[in-house]
Amino acid sequence: DASLSVPSEYQARCPPYAKLINTLGQVREVTGNKPLTLAEKILYSHLVDPVESLGSANGDLSKIRGQQYLKLNPDRVAMQDASAQTALLQFMTTQMPSTCVPASIHCDHLIVGKDGADQDLTSSIATNKEVFDFLQSCGEKYGIQFWGPGSGIIHQIVLENFSVPGLMMLGTDSHTPNAGGLGAIAIGVGGADAVDALTGTPWELKAPKILGVKLVGELSGWSSPKDVITYLAGLLTVRGGTGHIIEYFGEGVKSLSCTGMATICNMGAEVGATTSTFPYQDAHRRYLQQTNRGPIADAADVALNKYNFLKADEGADYDQIIEINLNTLEPHVNGPFTPDLSTPISVFGKTAQTEKWPSTVSAGLIGSCTNSSYQDMSRAASIIRQAENAGIKPKIPFFVTPGSEKIRATIERDGLIDLFERNGAIVLANACGPCIGQWDRTDVSKTSTESNAIFTSFNRNFRARNDGNRNTMNFLTSPDIVTAMIYSGDMNYNPITDSIKTESGDFKFTPPKGDELPGSGFIDGRAEFYPDPNPKPNAEVEINVSPSSDRLQILEPFAPWSGEELDTTVLLKVEGKCTTDHISAAGVWLKYKGHLENISYNTLIGAVNKETGEVNKAYDLDGSAHSIPELMFKWKLEQRPWIVVAEHNYGEGSAREHAAMSPRFTGGSIILVKSFARIHETNLKKQGMLPLTFADEADYDKISSGDKISTVDLRDMIAKDGNNGGHLKLKVTKKDGSEFDLLCKHTMSKDQIDFFKAGSAINYIGNLRKA
Ligand code: F3S
Repeated sequence: DASLSVPSEYQARCPPYAKLINTLGQVREVTGNKPLTLAEKILYSHLVDPVESLGSANGDLSKIRGQQYLKLNPDRVAMQDASAQTALLQFMTTQMPSTCVPASIHCDHLIVGKDGADQDLTSSIATNKEVFDFLQSCGEKYGIQFWGPGSGIIHQIVLENFSVPGLMMLGTDSHTPNAGGLGAIAIGVGGADAVDALTGTPWELKAPKILGVKLVGELSGWSSPKDVITYLAGLLTVRGGTGHIIEYFGEGVKSLSCTGMATICNMGAEVGATTSTFPYQDAHRRYLQQTNRGPIADAADVALNKYNFLKADEGADYDQIIEINLNTLEPHVNGPFTPDLSTPISVFGKTAQTEKWPSTVSAGLIGSCTNSSYQDMSRAASIIRQAENAGIKPKIPFFVTPGSEKIRATIERDGLIDLFERNGAIVLANACGPCIGQWDRTDVSKTSTESNAIFTSFNRNFRARNDGNRNTMNFLTSPDIVTAMIYSGDMNYNPITDSIKTESGDFKFTPPKGDELPGSGFIDGRAEFYPDPNPKPNAEVEINVSPSSDRLQILEPFAPWSGEELDTTVLLKVEGKCTTDHISAAGVWLKYKGHLENISYNTLIGAVNKETGEVNKAYDLDGSAHSIPELMFKWKLEQRPWIVVAEHNYGEGSAREHAAMSPRFTGGSIILVKSFARIHETNLKKQGMLPLTFADEADYDKISSGDKISTVDLRDMIAKDGNNGGHLKLKVTKKDGSEFDLLCKHTMSKDQIDFFKAGSAINYIGNLRKA
């Protein structure tokens, strides 16, 4: 159908609708024409072979979700500068001349926020020149679009350029689901998964369950899209979305902007969801048109109206439905230290007192990939205008991060940057900055032992994430609430009901107002921030990695499996929350993302030792104390493979690949936990580690550091190609010589067994190419 295709200049940015609709027809045959959710339609239409992936369920959708492994062909890959280094170093080992799908690189994470965009950008480019040059040369060699430093934050640029209803995309960043705000299925993965898509290797995912969120009513006043997800995070907790795609539907969706839907999808990562998505709306059409993608909107219209794609089927079944009434939804403030501790603004002040949180706010920050749209900025501006008219000034430092050059230039044209700056804001570069610990904060030192509270419109708030200070409490909320808060600085202040004392009397804000899209359209801004729209590979380009570099290191393949059972020693028993920030800290370590050996000195430095309560302390068999990475490297030298034991949702948080690569590099074999976060578990498998969970989580208590743990029936499990998950027996030998068996569970698929045998997924892909 010609009406499903787009002019050639749009083709690399439009999903192949005709092909997807054709595959969906095959899916319907295999599934007996059962009504499908939107997420299933998009995901299954990207299957390499619907019969192979879905056939054995005999049309029973419930036997697919949560059970079958899907082999998928994603349409596109996006990579941010920190994780792109690992992805591309791995891609290089396959020796392919170009990528098999369109891809983009975004330089955003390595930019520090301190004094303002111009100064920060100049110094960050100087500091990271070697890495940016490496990424740029990879872009030129392999035909990958290179968005340089200052061009914007990956997810905002993806939304403006690449996200399209029905697209399936992988991104090497955990907030990749942001693109679901424009009707895509976009999944955050590690570099090795990205390499699957880049090399045209089918990418495997266990079919997610589908959690429906029905939105009724309409947002108004102070309530914003952020509150939908901060409220939902409180309901679901950081684990509630695990193994699920969150699919939004209902009349309430109509009151949301496209960028608002992106905010909601972005923070689906905070509840552990595989991704989140929305059905195709008028708001999507408006956004596509305003971002110069009118022909893609026309094709999407045909896909929706003629072929019933891009929305759920009538009567589609969800594994669970949660209803949210937007009419009564009030702003929420989430934190500290976990994004699911959700408090309605009406009781926040009281809660702060009860919990003994600080009584004042020390800084306000708006922007990040979560909340830096034109609508967010214009609503914040409406609050600042009110304050300016009333003659009041911010009481605390205020930072603004535009999401992209397009946003920055447009809000500059519309007078917003001037408004922000004359009211004391520091406008930072179009980059991640303080959101990822790249905040060179001058008012509070990193080592301060006193608690302080910041309000941000970001998405994550684990300890030390923003300013490197473990005592900074980051409260996540809407940009509206953050902006109002800077005028009070009092934790007890509720801008909806309370007034601020001024010389001329009490001042109370009226609810913020903003524009969904700029009335005069977007402008691009400075041309130097825009890459070639159709990059071609160039085999002549040399990629230089100096052997003496401390930032980049060519990867050496991990050793293949010996064919024997694994004999390991418990290096550490971790207590409580262990996110990827604990396993592979960001902040200053971001510098070493391209150098596996150097970055591995951060492995598990945030973990708490269950046996001693100490952070970053592990004990050798002779009782000597070491930092955790020090002991790992020591045991690696001694050829003593190690195992780490931990509790629930191990590896939640960012899709940080080094959290899997570094343990493997430093001699780890097995991670044994009560439960895993999905992305991290997959990342471990891709690096050739064996992730296991306790069959009975009470067994965690029976393990001590120094215990010897061996697999008993690994060879048998491997001979059966993993059986798509099941049990594995371990033998534990305590220091006193006593022994017992321990039953564990694994989720290894046949392909993942192949990775394990080859030593890593990349080795496996490389072997296939050689064969
Ligand atoms: Fe960057 Fe923070 Fe988003 S680090 S990609 S702005 S979560």
